[in-house]
Amino acid sequence: MKYNFDEIIDRSNTNSIKYDFANRRGKPDGILPMWVADMDFRTPPCVIEALVDNSKHGIFGYSESGHDYFETLQAWFQCYFDWEVRPQWLIKTPGVVHAICSAIRALTNQGDAVIVQQPVYYPFSESVLGNRRKLIVNQLVYRESKYSIDFEDFETKIIKNDVKMFILCSPHNPVGRVWTKDELIRLGDICYRHGVIVISDEIHADFIYPGNKHFVFADLKPEFSDITVTCTAPSKTFNLAGLQISNIFVSNRSIRQKIKREISNSGYSQLSIMGITACKAAYDKGHEWLDALNIYLNGNLDVLRDFTRQNLPQIKLVEPEGTYLMWLDFKSLRLSDEQLDELIVQKAGLWLDAGVMFGKGGKGFQRINIACPKSILQKALLQLDQAING
Ligand SMILES: Cc1ncc(COP(=O)(O)O)c(C=O)c1O
Repeated sequence: MKYNFDEIIDRSNTNSIKYDFANRRGKPDGILPMWVADMDFRTPPCVIEALVDNSKHGIFGYSESGHDYFETLQAWFQCYFDWEVRPQWLIKTPGVVHAICSAIRALTNQGDAVIVQQPVYYPFSESVLGNRRKLIVNQLVYRESKYSIDFEDFETKIIKNDVKMFILCSPHNPVGRVWTKDELIRLGDICYRHGVIVISDEIHADFIYPGNKHFVFADLKPEFSDITVTCTAPSKTFNLAGLQISNIFVSNRSIRQKIKREISNSGYSQLSIMGITACKAAYDKGHEWLDALNIYLNGNLDVLRDFTRQNLPQIKLVEPEGTYLMWLDFKSLRLSDEQLDELIVQKAGLWLDAGVMFGKGGKGFQRINIACPKSILQKALLQLDQAING
């Protein structure tokens, strides 16, 4: 195997929020962290080499990216999603959440309604509420271990609350759906009909399990492109979150100008040189590594699926179509939030993300990150088995 995803890398004392801050975040020492969405794999060798080369130069002055950086992005999105981005569409930000907050402030007013589909990545609701907008929830429908969208509720709530913005999570964290073309078109048609701007967070688009396909929302219809802010980043794909770089694409000039102004007013201008370097190297030369990673993650998914079926039938794995974040249904255990927390943290010694954090519909679930060496995942599952079956 060219890339060794089985290697266990000691991440302690590296300022990792996953490994070094358990106590400060109220968790016991020695807990196995499988919560935050970063991976326990080293970024590809091509990225490390580029960063080392850059470091050796030794001067880290203000930096900007050139046209070659854009060409790298263009080739990436063309290759994986058949999406042709244009240079003027690009806005670079230190992260997707930063971009979402900027877009909320730039494109809506205080008190305006913003709709999300819970259970969903919790910074969505925090960004809406923190910026003093009104949170509207179109809860996903959970039936027979599968998630779908209640389109009628989505449209009714948009009309009733005069919703101005929709934050779409595509693929969806934490339920693992890779929305079909039909689903995205139905959502887009509703938004277009009612003048709703769409923030399409596509940060997980590079993790799609066989049999599924990711569609860039903005690219489905020209009118969708005109109302959409597409958020992308190399950070999940290549484990670069600490380097703070994301690429946001907005084809509508007026929307783009407003977001750019808001970002500028927040005092942010140039990107980190390490972010630019890493993103370019990853998108230029990381294809083979990403293919290998996706095969490895699929293997981890098999481990999780087989183990829960054989040993933990009480826990239902919501079969994911994408992402390395798995959504586990513990509802048959009939535990309160506190009891479930006690089971996971104290008895199993695992640090997962409790479903309740993800909003409506999250109660009784836990999210587990499987982007780690297989042996670590197996260890976690044995700890869970021991905690539940004694
Ligand atoms: C859906 C989604 N969006 C955004 C982020 C974070 O992006 P960033 O670190 O670029 O703000 C995450 C991280 O888990 C995520 O799952």
